[in-house]
Amino acid sequence: SEKDLEQHFEHTIEKDQRIEPRDWVPEGYRKTMIRQIAQHAHSEIIGMQPEGNWITRAPSLRRKAILLAKVQDEAGHGLYLYSAAETLGADRADLTEKLITGRQKYSSIFNYPTLTFADVGAIGWLVDGAAICNQVPLCRSSYGPYARAMIRICKEESFHQRQAYELLMTMMKGTQAQRDMVQDAVNRFWWPSLMMFGPPDAESANTAQSMAWKIKRHTNDELRQRFVDMTVPQAEALGVTLPDPDLKWNAERGHYDFGPVDWDEMKQVVAGNGPCNAERLARRRQAHEDGAWVREAAAAHARKMAEAK
Ligand code: 3HC
Repeated sequence: SEKDLEQHFEHTIEKDQRIEPRDWVPEGYRKTMIRQIAQHAHSEIIGMQPEGNWITRAPSLRRKAILLAKVQDEAGHGLYLYSAAETLGADRADLTEKLITGRQKYSSIFNYPTLTFADVGAIGWLVDGAAICNQVPLCRSSYGPYARAMIRICKEESFHQRQAYELLMTMMKGTQAQRDMVQDAVNRFWWPSLMMFGPPDAESANTAQSMAWKIKRHTNDELRQRFVDMTVPQAEALGVTLPDPDLKWNAERGHYDFGPVDWDEMKQVVAGNGPCNAERLARRRQAHEDGAWVREAAAAHARKMAEAK
């Protein structure tokens, strides 16, 4: 009976076991999992644009090869995640339509411009660093296909962060102009990176339920704090100043205190009024339209092969 199915589901979650595609799940679980996985996938795909902007202008062949590999990885992360969403009955074409028409979200962080090559380093160090803080716990998310996608993605993400830190360290050993470029990139990406973790727990509509279903293993504020604590020493080692005058070690708490995040800015960017929202969606729409003939040809070929059998 439905009651037995519900109990089996609750029991599986309670025992920290994985929910698999064949298992019965409450409609709300399916909906929120598709919502989070789809928006995670959209973030990976849109995230290719800001960094991709520098592939043709990387300062050396080595930097170009590394950046190319990283952007390619992001595409792959998006594809694993769309496949995970499909195991819940979502349709990939429908998800793309929802992204392009603004009915599904992607991470606010990708609506900021990449003005200099130092931004490539700041993104890898801060944005991929924040993504690692967020994604490592998701390896223990209750939905099997999502958790397993995260395990693969986290391995690649650590390469993304390491190459960026080395890029910034190299620039910090360069001219004053290069050091200024790094500091400028950090100034522009620090606060938007903190916004990647979502609104404060008290204003988060989904956190309580996502924690109860063990989709999330930590709250937005917990992971944001973990990211700040991890990053401050790295900034010191790099020789850059994080743009927050309130940033200070609090021995009592055993964490860094930090200043207020501009939640109005985040709301504006999520609502579509960030610096690059229109450009990001227009590019994604254009790419989708340019690829229509490939999808039609592949579908026609598949039909022909099926008829030939
Ligand atoms: N940008 C855009 N939307 C955001 C956001 C952000 N930075 N933070 C929160 N939101 C949205 C949420 O999606 C939710 O809207 P919805 O109900 O329409 O989906 C609303 O704001 C309220 O936020 P909640 O905290 O209640 O929502 P969640 O419980 O879903 O928490 C989250 C938000 C922490 C982003 C969570 O969804 C999550 O952990 N997602 C998986 C990780 C992810 O998506 N990361 C994207 C980062 S970029 C990336 O990973 C690429 C890497 O390679 C750099």
